[in-house]
Amino acid sequence: MIVIIDFGSQFNQLIARRVRECEVYCQIEPPNTPIEAIKAMKPEGIILSGGPSSIYDEHSPKVDRAIFELGVPVLGICYGMQFMVDALGGKVESAEKREYGFARLKTDNKSGLLKDIEDDSVCWMSHGDSSTGLPSGFEITASTDNTEIAVIECNKRRLYGVQFHPEVEHSQEGRKVLSNFLFNICDCKRSWTMKSFVEEEIAEIRKVTNGKKVILGLSGGVDSSVAAVLIHKAIGDHLTCIFVDNGLLRKDERKKLEETFSNNFHMNIIYVDASKKFLGALEGVTDPEKKRKIIGALFIEVFDEEASKIKDAEFLAQGTLYPDIIESKSAFGGPTAVIKSHHNVGGLPEDMKLKLIEPLKHLFKDEVRALGEELGLTEEMVWRQPFPGPGLSIRILGEVTEKRLAILREADSILLEEIRNAGFYRKLWQSFAVLLPVKSVGVMGDKRTYENCIAIRAVNSIDAMTADWARLPHDLLAKISNRLINEVSGVNRVVYDISSKPPGTIEWE
Ligand code: XMP
Repeated sequence: MIVIIDFGSQFNQLIARRVRECEVYCQIEPPNTPIEAIKAMKPEGIILSGGPSSIYDEHSPKVDRAIFELGVPVLGICYGMQFMVDALGGKVESAEKREYGFARLKTDNKSGLLKDIEDDSVCWMSHGDSSTGLPSGFEITASTDNTEIAVIECNKRRLYGVQFHPEVEHSQEGRKVLSNFLFNICDCKRSWTMKSFVEEEIAEIRKVTNGKKVILGLSGGVDSSVAAVLIHKAIGDHLTCIFVDNGLLRKDERKKLEETFSNNFHMNIIYVDASKKFLGALEGVTDPEKKRKIIGALFIEVFDEEASKIKDAEFLAQGTLYPDIIESKSAFGGPTAVIKSHHNVGGLPEDMKLKLIEPLKHLFKDEVRALGEELGLTEEMVWRQPFPGPGLSIRILGEVTEKRLAILREADSILLEEIRNAGFYRKLWQSFAVLLPVKSVGVMGDKRTYENCIAIRAVNSIDAMTADWARLPHDLLAKISNRLINEVSGVNRVVYDISSKPPGTIEWE
């Protein structure tokens, strides 16, 4: 495995993804990880990530310098390289010109880290400081017009540094540089595949649960679904899933879930129809945060009640993913963690006294999807767009009633059908319908109508932190609009939301 020391770069998760794409397992660790703990992980190589600081900042992140004495190959990227240069007696200075953007990498040394790379390839730079003096034993193996010391190598000690960012798409030979480090220098084996993960994780789940019962809250989203199938494969009927129908689901959602999990996978599932309870509690409520609070609290109550009926359950399984773990472990906190916390509706009671198991906690989202495919989940399940815990309630602006739910359900189902047929479903981060709290005038046949308005929301995004409205073809929008107005009774107008996030949000509430 490879250890990535996180110096706070916005790209550090990307480094991990690139390493794993090479089928090598890696873990991101904060710089204050004790050297003994790093040693105990038995890494085959260590990558020091970039970061926003200057090594001369008073509070710049530092890792124990003994990391260079472990005899394990180290690759420093950007700040990571500057940290290495400074730690080993070289010189780092504030560059006269900040270098940001594309540069051409000039090299005539095609061994070691740069084996087989094209000369003059585009690489992507983003740094204020530069290395200006080499530590002893190092040589410069590539430069750019602005940065003489762009790549350095000390083959004897197997220490390497790159000033550019090999992990970003813009660096043409970045993948090759990383794979040279992994395979030619660290001698890693390609062993990280979802097939091997399934085998190892099943053994681990069996060992940890040791014949005891496990409960899992199944929402039908990708993460809980994949976690459920994996655990079921490991322990069969010792797993019980609880699915809470809060009455705020999309059309046929429960039916599809039953088909997949009960009929195909033969899993033990308790379906709790709590829709009356939820809709009752939401009566008259229009404030979005109040809706969230009511739904969150009720979910816990309903889940808790069902879970307590399962005698001698010892474990609670959750589909936590690696990015959540990295964020909560990061030495830098970061804005992501804060923003996401208000979305944790559907969190579970703290006093449940169950031990947690989180079998996906080392996986990125794309790996969870690959795992789902490996486990035989359908493409439809594996590639589902995210759906919020409070469900359709935050897509019905104003009061949530059965009648308005029925309108939105129908509209949303038609919209998704057309998006799927046009081949856009997987390309979009999310696409859905919103029912607005306004009525407007229209004509249908010879009659004047005064009916509801549906907004279509379709966005592209990488992680929901930022998003842009999708430039859907006009013909597709026209088709959706026609069908919504003709087929959904109570709708006479359709608008397309062209706000980006920020300043807008993806959901309307
Ligand atoms: P916003 O609307 O904040 O949404 O741009 C970002 C992402 O989070 C989802 N979202 C939620 N998910 N409970 C959830 O589980 C919530 O209360 C909630 N609110 C928004 C939203 O669908 C998008 O993917």
